[in-house]
Amino acid sequence: MEPADLAAAHALSRAVGWPHRLEDWQFALAVGEGVCAYAGDRLIGTAMAWRYGGEQARIGLVIVDPTIQRAGIGRRMMTSLLDRLDEPRVMLNATDAGERLYRDLGFAPVSTIIQHQGAPFGSPLVPLRQGERIRPLGRNDAKRLVALDAMAMGARREGVIGELLRQGAAIVLDDGEETVGFAFFRRFGRGHAIGPVIARDTAAARALIAHWIGLNAGMFLRVDVPGESGLSDWLDGLGLTRVSPVLTMLRGRPLPPPGPYRTFGLVSQALG
Ligand SMILES: CC(C)(COP(=O)(O)OP(=O)(O)OC[C@H]1O[C@@H](n2cnc3c(N)ncnc32)[C@H](O)[C@@H]1OP(=O)(O)O)[C@@H](O)C(=O)NCCC(=O)NCCS
Repeated sequence: MEPADLAAAHALSRAVGWPHRLEDWQFALAVGEGVCAYAGDRLIGTAMAWRYGGEQARIGLVIVDPTIQRAGIGRRMMTSLLDRLDEPRVMLNATDAGERLYRDLGFAPVSTIIQHQGAPFGSPLVPLRQGERIRPLGRNDAKRLVALDAMAMGARREGVIGELLRQGAAIVLDDGEETVGFAFFRRFGRGHAIGPVIARDTAAARALIAHWIGLNAGMFLRVDVPGESGLSDWLDGLGLTRVSPVLTMLRGRPLPPPGPYRTFGLVSQALG
């Protein structure tokens, strides 16, 4: 996949009803790589991968033109992509349409992701705990953000965090001693996305997400949260209603036991 493929890739994602803008594809390619399927000079399929610190790869934006699905093109693109990846762990978030194919290729389900979106009004009140403070991102925070993200993801992704810093805004949560969480906010799809959100617990994640909702009342917002995050009922109540779950699937090395930091909001379903 090259930058010249992205206009057609964008048309393909629209054809399957996905909300990505051309800029979202550009973001994806700036920090990743992909393969395309062509019939003559017509783009009929895409599949992308992102490599995180030699530890983990993510696959996403796997799409085949709706007029030629179930002819083996998805499988061909997936095997070609998997052949290029040498990371011990490969993960993806599967739609219903893709699940069977991924199982066939050795992926097994490990958890779920729930997509929430809407235009919430009003600002949820989430009190901070003693000593905690939310502040805008500072000049020297980038390293700590990469470290927190790596603790939650099990892999370092400087490239992704770097691109997010260029394109989005971020807030961080300090506990009086150090930075213990953060949340990004950026244009994505039909509106804005909150994520990634990394924190130690649900209360901290709520405070971070509530901050962005409060600043953007009435705007179309999206946040993709792990099923086990404990955030879904709260988000539903705020008017960020759940859309449809996707299945997180893993191929290769099992996940490490959870550490002190967890992911409460994804960059996107594709990038994790
Ligand atoms: C998921 C998706 C990429 C699969 O692409 P595809 O080209 O249709 O995939 P394949 O043809 O390789 O395999 C899909 C199915 O077709 C079957 N198939 C493959 N070749 C076939 C053939 N010649 N004749 C009949 N069936 C065939 C496969 O066995 C598989 O069947 P199963 O799902 O019932 O097990 C495609 O459905 C898609 O773009 N969906 C919308 C976007 C999406 O949800 N993407 C997944 C994101 S994670």
